[in-house]
Amino acid sequence: MENIIEIRHLSKSFGTHEVLKDIDFSVRKGEVVTIIGSSGSGKSTLLRCVNLLEKPSGGQIIYNGENILEEKHDVNAYRKHLGMVFQQFNLFNNYNVLQNCVVGQVKVLKRTKEEAEQIALKYLKVVGMDQYVNAKPSQLSGGQKQRVAIARALSMEPDVLLFDEPTSALDPEMVGEVLKVMKELAHSGLTMMIVTHEMEFAKEVSDRIVFMEKGVIAEEGTPDQIFNHPKEARTREFLKRTF
Ligand SMILES: Nc1ncnc2c1ncn2[C@@H]1O[C@H](COP(=O)(O)OP(=O)(O)O)[C@@H](O)[C@H]1O
Ligand SMILES: [Mg+2]
Repeated sequence: MENIIEIRHLSKSFGTHEVLKDIDFSVRKGEVVTIIGSSGSGKSTLLRCVNLLEKPSGGQIIYNGENILEEKHDVNAYRKHLGMVFQQFNLFNNYNVLQNCVVGQVKVLKRTKEEAEQIALKYLKVVGMDQYVNAKPSQLSGGQKQRVAIARALSMEPDVLLFDEPTSALDPEMVGEVLKVMKELAHSGLTMMIVTHEMEFAKEVSDRIVFMEKGVIAEEGTPDQIFNHPKEARTREFLKRTF
């Protein structure tokens, strides 16, 4: 399968603090890649570099065969192809559910309001939130908010959807409904990069697991390799602490 995104020698420093060091990896079309690792290992920074919410300090991000970090590339055009789901939902609280899923489509993709509403409804159905189009985020549970945030990201019809700990801010009883939606998306062939601490989920949906430690990829492999036959001592330690 072809690579959608290829990361080469990516580095990121904040001041003198080198947070990502020489990261190399790629994501193939339709692949579900899960990033695991301790807090502070650089997982969020990696996702934020991939969608250019952070500017990498060095390296290349190859998208469709071109290094989009070169000056000549239109960063905004690239970012249209990526969706992001955050731990804290980041919904617009003054907009209702439907408007949340429409505004980006109209502003960024220049779709008409009518077309955008149709597409929003389609994805609100996918996440089981189409009954709530008129609700404001404040009227929803955390799990419902996150499902709307996923529908909003899907409405932009991205090539790759990035998730940064999408269930970490949820009450335990709401984690399941969000993971269920994510599992369905994973099985639908969507390309996904997911940072999560939900190891059972990671084991079940991932084509590949990337274990990060201290700003480097310490080990990567299939769920079976990582969870059942980890090669690195630091992977084993992490898994022992986590399970
Ligand atoms: N905007 C920032 N400014 C300075 N340091 C940052 C910033 N964002 C992250 N860091 C630092 O980078 C390191 C990795 O953070 P992060 O990517 O959030 O890790 P993770 O998501 O794995 O918990 C941490 O030491 C964190 O303090
Ligand atoms: Mg993080």
